[in-house]
Amino acid sequence: MASNHHYKRPHQPHSSSSSSSTTYFYIFISIILLTALFLLSSHNITSYSTVPLAFESGKPIKQYASGQNDGNGAASADCDYSEGNWFYDPTVRSPRYDETCKEIYKGWNCVAGNRSGAAEIVKWRWQPNHCALPQFDPLRFLESHRDISIGFVGDSLNRNMFVSLFCSLKRGSGEVKKWRPAGADRGFTFVKYNLTIAYHRTNLLARYGRWLANAKGGELESLGYKEGYRVDVDIPEGTWAEAPSFHNILIYNTGHWWWAPSKFDPVKSPMLFHENGQPMIPPLSPEVGLDVVLRHMISYVEEKARPGTILFFRTQSPRHFEGGDWDQGGSCARLQPLSPHEVESFFSVQNNGTNVETRLVNEHIYEAIKGTAFQLLDITSMSEFRADAHPSSAGGKKHDDCMHWCLPGITDTWNDLFIAHLSRLKVR
Ligand SMILES: *[C@@H]1O[C@H](CO)[C@@H](O)[C@H](O)[C@H]1NC(C)=O
Ligand SMILES: *[C@@H]1O[C@H](CO)[C@@H](O)[C@H](O)[C@H]1NC(C)=O
Ligand SMILES: *[C@@H]1O[C@H](CO)[C@@H](O)[C@H](O)[C@H]1NC(C)=O
Repeated sequence: MASNHHYKRPHQPHSSSSSSSTTYFYIFISIILLTALFLLSSHNITSYSTVPLAFESGKPIKQYASGQNDGNGAASADCDYSEGNWFYDPTVRSPRYDETCKEIYKGWNCVAGNRSGAAEIVKWRWQPNHCALPQFDPLRFLESHRDISIGFVGDSLNRNMFVSLFCSLKRGSGEVKKWRPAGADRGFTFVKYNLTIAYHRTNLLARYGRWLANAKGGELESLGYKEGYRVDVDIPEGTWAEAPSFHNILIYNTGHWWWAPSKFDPVKSPMLFHENGQPMIPPLSPEVGLDVVLRHMISYVEEKARPGTILFFRTQSPRHFEGGDWDQGGSCARLQPLSPHEVESFFSVQNNGTNVETRLVNEHIYEAIKGTAFQLLDITSMSEFRADAHPSSAGGKKHDDCMHWCLPGITDTWNDLFIAHLSRLKVR
């Protein structure tokens, strides 16, 4: 699943190697300035490697002790966990799980696959601007979520997050039953606690399949369409149709496949949207189709979910291809997170760079969940920094993977965020 759903975007000059010497110059100057600022500050962290990469208005961010929380993620009710900075913390204990967790897809197992710097990835700690985001405690989580079922619904990036949760919880309790709840791709019950977690695979949320022109003709045929993909905007894909009425907590995502012209080529294999079984005329662009699909799928979930079901929509996970896209030799060999300046050059919509879809997808998601029962799980900003945390060429791939994340890695922090949101809901 890792290999066939990348997409193609022509080479972007801003990320090419010709600009890398300028970039390095800026990094060098930034390090000097940051170090100077740092020595003037009252922090007790002194070595170079612990210099925070990101600063807010030139001042080091205040560090919050996790003791301000209840230890299971509940902090002050209005804290925004999604904005903050990564700090290198060499004292980080051993990772929450290791490369022996069997559920880790081979291509994401960066330690076993010898990705350089793989062991460093978990030494960066996410520090929200005004509170702490502590690492969740698997045993406490299991104990406080007995008889609960959690469903991840979405593309392989949601699977990446699901695997992280599985491996973390497995450290708390090793006795698991493997099964496929409600049509899931994979799922597990932590037997002692009767806590179930499952992953429902779906790329577009809506059902889709190959479409070929009918010899007898039709509306799309008369517009010249010969083949493509039929996307039924009002029909959920079967893999998750039962999920909303099964699980107590659901985490949705979609996005990567909507900007995937190597599969949904606008000319050779376009998405052809259908509603009520009929083609939508005039045909919609993928962006407009995404809005229509989100609207239908969100109301489907709201209708099917039992009262009290907790619904999250996860924001888009950023890619970090540099020097070209995935099929143009693009790579992600960095060993440290990006600086805030670099984050903007990668992701600002104006720059229209290789990975520009990240924030574009989010604009659709923000709009779609307004006024619905869904809450946003905003992982985008924290993840934009982490150009160092993708599998890259780990395990000897043909193309670098700068889209999925190494495990253990930053989807562990996504789960901290998810669990912090959950405990905040319960506190209320
Ligand atoms: C990683 O390195 C070890 C030790 O050098 C080697 O035995 C192993 O085959 C390598 N694994 C991969 C996937 O390249
Ligand atoms: C286990 O949890 C599920 C909800 O996930 C619930 O429906 C079921 O009744 C529970 N089983 C037992 C034995 O309590
Ligand atoms: C962004 O870049 C792509 C690929 O180079 C190009 O096709 C597209 O027209 C650009 N969009 C804008 C708004 O400049």
